Amino acid sequence: MIQSFARHRRLRQSAALRSMVRETWLNPADFIQPIYVTYGEGVKQEIKSMPGVYRFSLDQLGPELQEIHSLGIPAVLLFGIPDTKDDVGSSAYDEHGIVQEATRLIKAQYPDLLVVADTCLCEFTDHGHCGMVHTYEQDGVLCGDVLNDESLELLIKTAVSQAEAGADIIAPSNMMDGFVQAIRHGLDEAGFTHIPIMSYSVKYASAFYGPFREAADSAPQFGDRKSYQMDPANAREALREAESDVLEGADMLMVKPSLSYLDVMRTIKDQFDLPLVAYNVSGEYAMVKAAALQGWIDERATVLEILTSMKRAGADMIITYSAKDAAKWLADGGKK
Ligand code: PBG
Repeated sequence: MIQSFARHRRLRQSAALRSMVRETWLNPADFIQPIYVTYGEGVKQEIKSMPGVYRFSLDQLGPELQEIHSLGIPAVLLFGIPDTKDDVGSSAYDEHGIVQEATRLIKAQYPDLLVVADTCLCEFTDHGHCGMVHTYEQDGVLCGDVLNDESLELLIKTAVSQAEAGADIIAPSNMMDGFVQAIRHGLDEAGFTHIPIMSYSVKYASAFYGPFREAADSAPQFGDRKSYQMDPANAREALREAESDVLEGADMLMVKPSLSYLDVMRTIKDQFDLPLVAYNVSGEYAMVKAAALQGWIDERATVLEILTSMKRAGADMIITYSAKDAAKWLADGGKK
């Protein structure tokens, strides 16, 4: 019989000991809760593919903010659903746009709650793309090319108007080339040198965004986002994307989605010294919710395990639709 002296179970004897040797901890102070805001009054509309997640009109936001704040979640990420869309996404950079108004309201009521503004055009363009497009017909099918540099100008305007409304962090998610440098320059020129940029540096063209596109009504009307978002098969390309964002002045790097890209997160964490953000996206939330509603998995245990795996992979912060739930579970003993 082979005699081994390793006894791994010695350190697993009791909850107290397991806790002392635990390498990774979840903390609500690392969570960012996304919120969808829309026009109108009395709107609290559940998103079909994301049970428990709502679109709120501004007059309905109060209890939601109160809950987030009291759970110790330090930040929210705002997505806006405008009342009108056009081909240049003008309500993205309207001083009275929905994200700008929501930001003002949140900062007035909860000055210490950090507002992260998603800087993109796709929720505001009628074609659903993240920038301006040049459209044409080919064999009777409507096609379009995204105009990179022309889009940058509009993204700068969007970021500056979000900062003017009081956003604490600008999070550009459009994946145009040079977007971080352009936005950094625009913010600095407008006097917002102190506002950090959380760049969606490594953003894959992913099927996991499906429920978000329902929630934000932003599915592309033609084509897809593969010319500006990354191929899920590529990991080394993530290093190039992150490196250019670092050189362009990003303050935080994001990997999105998260669950299928834990290897990419670890690589980015090891290669760069900026804070790393994981985005636990809409489809990841929907999958767990759907199985939980069927009684097929234990939602609490599954969500906490998933979030823990993101921190283990190197995330310093996690954007997650489960932030409120996870914060509650952690408060009532999820650390066991
Ligand atoms: C905007 C944007 C998207 C998401 C965040 N910002 C959608 C997309 O790229 O299609 C997805 C977030 C989620 O799925 O939760 N560009």
